Amino acid sequence: MKTYKQPNKLGRFGEFGGMYVAETLMPILLELDESYKKIQKDKKFKRELNDLFKNYVGRPSPLYHAKNLTKYINGPKIYFKRDELNHTGAHKINNCLGQILLAKKMGKTRIIAETGAGQHGVAVSAVSAYFSMPCFIFMGSKDIERQKPNVFRMKLLGATIIPVESGSKSLKDAMNEALREWIKRCRDSAYVIGSTAGPHPYPKMVRDFQSVIGKEAREQILKVEKRLPDIVCACIGGGSNSMGLFYPFLNDKKVKLIGVEAAGEGANTKKTAATMTSANSSPGVLHGSYSYVLQNKDGQINEAHSISAGLDYPGVGPEHSYLKETKRVKYFSITDKEALNAFQLCSKLEGIIPALEPSHALAYLIKSFKNKDKNKILILNMCGRGDKDLFTAANALGVDANE
Ligand SMILES: Cc1ncc(COP(=O)(O)O)c(C=O)c1O
Repeated sequence: MKTYKQPNKLGRFGEFGGMYVAETLMPILLELDESYKKIQKDKKFKRELNDLFKNYVGRPSPLYHAKNLTKYINGPKIYFKRDELNHTGAHKINNCLGQILLAKKMGKTRIIAETGAGQHGVAVSAVSAYFSMPCFIFMGSKDIERQKPNVFRMKLLGATIIPVESGSKSLKDAMNEALREWIKRCRDSAYVIGSTAGPHPYPKMVRDFQSVIGKEAREQILKVEKRLPDIVCACIGGGSNSMGLFYPFLNDKKVKLIGVEAAGEGANTKKTAATMTSANSSPGVLHGSYSYVLQNKDGQINEAHSISAGLDYPGVGPEHSYLKETKRVKYFSITDKEALNAFQLCSKLEGIIPALEPSHALAYLIKSFKNKDKNKILILNMCGRGDKDLFTAANALGVDANE
């Protein structure tokens, strides 16, 4: 069996990925790539990061047998990889610690980031506070409105929030503005991208920092079940929690990998974020990388839509495009309505309020595995908790969350 080895030296996953950026950014990306290569071999860096994972984040996150959901579905035995229990409430902190520790070693004194759901923003703010670095976060004004609890958290943690009013006023536009700011301040600032998106080396670097999820899950399942899982499933925004979980299983050909995108109001409607599963998607360039994007006939990027701010992105990390083309991962999409139902069901059955993002993966499970595959084992990445989504969910359900 051929061992999986992506990306190549130029940051390409097959034909996807690369560095499509302004000339002024090229030396900075190359410097970042070199520094990242160096710290990968640095035992002290690894020790420091592992210590922070353990004592600051609370890793390893548990692998939890969701008995009630398993019984309800009457299908595979379901385990949740509980990254929602991490400090700051999602998987995003794994990557922030890696990137900001690297920024510190590179002598950077200031942090720039973008955020959609605010989970990445909260994690960046917390880690910047930990390292005493000033932190500037670009956020679409639509996301500021729908993720209010996280905006307040970021401010408490000392970050400066910069509202973005352009375009769809969400993650895509926040990332455009953050990239512009980085071009101006690249000498003293590190740009911490929150997903496996953007130009090389970000997709690889973010995947590597997040792969702690899959490494732990693999060890944990071997310990409790004495075998590998049959199915591994995660939601896809830019693709970081899924790549983190999938990566350590990529060489296990018998393990079926499933990525779930946000269909919004329907994958083939205009109100969707299903970057790889919509009829309106095709490969193109967005935020410095060649990958599947939602675009019109003239190559203009379409606005994405999802009830979940973290999945509301018209692009996807290039490694996912490669894994789609090579068919190693199968991709599906779930509507806002289906995700909202799963959000409620999981809360009632398991006593766990999931974020709206993993609710998409949950909804896929409920829809596809009911009364099927009873002897199989499935791991789902519970990559975030639902506290940030209470107002959005209440609004969508037509109830007053303050009552
Ligand atoms: C809880 C949660 N899950 C998933 C995502 C989607 O991002 P990714 O695909 O990079 O994991 C986000 C993004 O903000 C998030 O907050």
